[in-house]
Amino acid sequence: MELNEKITRKRTNGDIQEFLLRCCRPEDLEAILTLQTLVKTSLGGYGEIFVEDTREELAESLELDCCIGAWADGKLAAFTLSIANRISDRNLARKLGVADEGLADYVTYDTTFVHPDFRGFGLQQYFMPLKDRDARERGASYALCTVSPDNPHSLYNTQATGFQVVRRCTMYGGVDRFILEKSVGQGG
Ligand SMILES: CC(C)(COP(=O)(O)OP(=O)(O)OC[C@H]1O[C@@H](n2cnc3c(N)ncnc32)[C@H](O)[C@@H]1OP(=O)(O)O)[C@@H](O)C(=O)NCCC(=O)NCCS
Repeated sequence: MELNEKITRKRTNGDIQEFLLRCCRPEDLEAILTLQTLVKTSLGGYGEIFVEDTREELAESLELDCCIGAWADGKLAAFTLSIANRISDRNLARKLGVADEGLADYVTYDTTFVHPDFRGFGLQQYFMPLKDRDARERGASYALCTVSPDNPHSLYNTQATGFQVVRRCTMYGGVDRFILEKSVGQGG
């Protein structure tokens, strides 16, 4: 997907911020890892709601998947990642029992994190139609994601953009998660 866009976003308190959105490249890996660590640390005792991707997973995704960054004043402020509709253990459809032949129908919205200084500009929701567009371009029909039942902000944002809970299970080595699904087909 081609993406290189300047957007201006407003918080409910009136703050205004400009972001540059573009697809991430392999050379962005260190900035993504640094932001991911900062976000995880900022959650303190609530860390279980956010499971980090490994360096290897992020490096793989920068080659194969849809990785979008939002830069504010030249620094990475937010990141989101959709795993392509490919045969992989990272394709969440496997967790729902979909066989390899069916995985091309499903993308996985794997992670989104926003620097604490840039929360409240609605970036998680803004990213959604961009990932939907990428999913359609790749020929997928459905998107899946996981959200912790204890993560009200992420749960609100995913449901507000069309996702519905289809299952609740223990994942990622022992944490509670909803699996959510939505259609991304034409008009979906
Ligand atoms: C979930 C997350 C991506 C949402 O970021 P966002 O898109 O900037 O959030 P929104 O713009 O929807 O925020 C809406 C409101 O909730 C508040 N909010 C958002 N995330 C919050 C958080 N983690 N803690 C407290 N308040 C938060 C915002 O300040 C805003 O408040 P306001 O309406 O009074 O202005 C962000 O909180 C985050 O990075 N969390 C940690 C990582 C995570 O849980 N990722 C999702 C699972 S992969």
